[in-house]
Amino acid sequence: MTEPSYLRETRASYDTVAVDYAKLVPPAFEADVLGRAMLGALAEFVRAAGSGPVADVGCGPGHVTAYLHSLGLTAFGVDLSPRMVEVARRDHPGLRFDIGTMTALGPADGELGGIVAWYSIIHTPLDVLPAVFAEFHRVLAPGGHLLLGFHVGDERRRKQKGYGDHEMSLDVYLLPPGRIAELATRAGFVVHATLVSEPESLRAPQACLLLRKPTTS
Ligand SMILES: C[S@@+](CC[C@H](N)C(=O)[O-])C[C@H]1O[C@@H](n2cnc3c(N)ncnc32)[C@H](O)[C@@H]1O
Repeated sequence: MTEPSYLRETRASYDTVAVDYAKLVPPAFEADVLGRAMLGALAEFVRAAGSGPVADVGCGPGHVTAYLHSLGLTAFGVDLSPRMVEVARRDHPGLRFDIGTMTALGPADGELGGIVAWYSIIHTPLDVLPAVFAEFHRVLAPGGHLLLGFHVGDERRRKQKGYGDHEMSLDVYLLPPGRIAELATRAGFVVHATLVSEPESLRAPQACLLLRKPTTS
């Protein structure tokens, strides 16, 4: 089967920027107080349920995976970009990172206690998101949590450069939280909490959407 062009573009773009991305983005994450608070909430819910490992899907250079690990979770990362996975393994040698895509994850049905997709669904066309949420629902245990981080809006932007002025060529979607919640609900999730931060200077508002797979369907 031919791979969709958005996956090829996303992989090639992040392969190009991986080394500089790892220098620039983890320090910004250190300053993301609200985002880290939501990751902390996910960690508490997963620990309380005692329900299995957490996948950081679209993990990039692995700093969020490492943060989840520091919160006492068994966390591992998955990313489409082999170069990102290489950098993640270099920077976090004690943790597991796999190459993979969010539409076909490795774990068996119900194996995971949690999933974090931190600014990684933002390159997936809206009409593919139902398949992504169905896959997240499949691999999560009943009672498991899903945390999505994304830029708020309702538009597609073409990204041509980034992370040290490297050439990139991919779409970035700004997403309406209500629409994303609706798609996730259709896939079987219930909304647990939504956090939307105010825009800052040139930065769009950011959303964290915490969802739960019900214990009974
Ligand atoms: C903006 S970066 C976010 C990386 C990291 N989560 C962070 O917060 O810095 C997006 C990452 O998602 C990955 N990604 C995008 N689409 C993906 C897909 N369909 N499956 C797996 N990874 C994907 C990209 O390769 C890239 O590393």
